[in-house]
Amino acid sequence: MARIPDAFIDDLLARSDIVEVVGTRVPLKRQGKEYAARCPFHDERSASFTVSPTKQFYHCFGCGAHGTAISFLMQYDRLEFLDAVEELARRVGMEVPRDTQQRNANPETRDLYGAMEAASTFFRTQLTRSDKARAYVDKRGIAAEIVERYMIGYAPDGFSALRDALGTDPRRMQLLERGGLFSKNDKGHVYDKFRDRLMFPIHDRRGRTIAFGGRVIDPEDSPKYLNSPETALFHKGRELYGLWQAKQANQKLDRLIVVEGYMDVVALAQYGVSQAVATLGTATTPDHAELLFRNAPDVYFCFDGDRAGRSAAWKALESVLPRMKDGRQAFFLFLPDGEDPDSLVRQEGVEGFDARLRGATPLSEFFYASLSTDVNLSSLDGKARLAERCKPLLAQIPDGAFGDLMRQRLTELTGVGARASAPQTHVPAQRATRAGPGTPAQKPSLVRGAITHLLHRPGFALDLQPPYRFAALRQPGIDLLSELVLLVRERPDIATGALLEHFDGREELAALQKLAVLDLPGEEPDLRAEFLDAIAQLEKQVLQQRIEELQQQQRDGALDDAGKQEMRELLQARRRA
Ligand code: UTP
Ligand code: MN
Repeated sequence: MARIPDAFIDDLLARSDIVEVVGTRVPLKRQGKEYAARCPFHDERSASFTVSPTKQFYHCFGCGAHGTAISFLMQYDRLEFLDAVEELARRVGMEVPRDTQQRNANPETRDLYGAMEAASTFFRTQLTRSDKARAYVDKRGIAAEIVERYMIGYAPDGFSALRDALGTDPRRMQLLERGGLFSKNDKGHVYDKFRDRLMFPIHDRRGRTIAFGGRVIDPEDSPKYLNSPETALFHKGRELYGLWQAKQANQKLDRLIVVEGYMDVVALAQYGVSQAVATLGTATTPDHAELLFRNAPDVYFCFDGDRAGRSAAWKALESVLPRMKDGRQAFFLFLPDGEDPDSLVRQEGVEGFDARLRGATPLSEFFYASLSTDVNLSSLDGKARLAERCKPLLAQIPDGAFGDLMRQRLTELTGVGARASAPQTHVPAQRATRAGPGTPAQKPSLVRGAITHLLHRPGFALDLQPPYRFAALRQPGIDLLSELVLLVRERPDIATGALLEHFDGREELAALQKLAVLDLPGEEPDLRAEFLDAIAQLEKQVLQQRIEELQQQQRDGALDDAGKQEMRELLQARRRA
């Protein structure tokens, strides 16, 4: 997939009004130059969430949520990046550059979606026409409303029901084949892949049908469940059954519940638990974990209580660990022998199932319980062994409170500390408190001051002319300052929000965010002068740094003629400066 040019994104953000984008979803109150609200991303009574029209970004002082209008749509409406860009572009009447539009812009792919949709419609019609299939739906206790919502269908018996109905010309045959709906025998004869099965269409994030799962109706048939093969549209490690419906049913998803089967998802939905999704006959992949947390802060994994279930749960844990940013929680629910969410919710109702979820094991507990099963924690050896096992796993947790607590727990268990959290960020150390009015501002370092100015008014960087001599200074934060200047030079329209986004996933981000939300009182010309002055002083320091280098060479007797010449020039420059 081609990238959308940064310049387009900057322009799009410049033309979009973030206050309007946020304001239509969250009630905003004006507060000076900014707007405030109760944060839509965490529970709170006070209004820690601010939106800045000039910086084009939002930031929550409570939970740290932050970003541009694009990331707001991604977080709040749970859109993918491209969808958020398209949505925003539509609002301001811009066209997303043609060659970067999504796969469905390609007529070939568009027709493939069409063929899948046609198959889905065909299966649904067949369900209404088959007594046997409807009897099975009744026997399983699936309500009509759920059949409708999940678009459940029926693939008739025989070898060519779908083929006869939809494979009316070579082109359509080819599309259905590419959609994974046919099988081929040794002689090359093509026949329906799904026969006499209850059909569960799998939808993508936009509700398009991309694959199917089919359950046997006749208990003699096997396999019990047959899933579509991997196709151009369907990669089972990246999709979650039921996610589309869960998003439709919930304005804001506060949790997702991962279960094993199609039947579990639909039964839970029928009983009012509309946040269940299923992996498609695979272990929980890292892509799944990403998708889950992108859609909800709390994720519950339901597994059988047996050995296979525990090992599947551990796989899930390994996939989520590197994604446990602050604000995210994972829980594990182990089910009694012989039961699954489908059977449980039917016996115990939604209250019973919710009670089980409330009693689910937090990730931290499952983590240490699993790793210490065969370890004697009262012996030194045992403690050392546990510590060794934990280290590589703990190292995968992103920096933050959760990681700290996990390491603290290890220390409690073993007395051995795990590696402290990652080295501190390279932004010049100085407490970046939220300097409101009345808070005496600390005197910031030059570098930190210049960075702060740039974050607030990126355009200042355009006043600097290359070569950027200050970049040669050996001081904490200089590399970051240079990077910012170069970034703005490349993307002259960039605003604070997008600038911060550039640092997503990097350790500098947290510190930059703090600087970006500081109050910088003053008029633009004064602030500009302050910034340019800081740069001028840094350049003076570069001069001094070089002079000292040359003086050192001189003392070592290593200064050649060119060096002497340079030194004379530098000393003169310093006098002039
Ligand atoms: P289960 O056998 O636990 O199915 O498989 P279930 O959801 O309880 O279904 P019912 O109640 O018997 O109808 C769980 C999941 O594992 C995958 C399917 O995704 C299924 O939903 N599976 C199972 C397969 O892919 N193939 C199989 O043969 C069996
Ligand atoms: Mn079942």
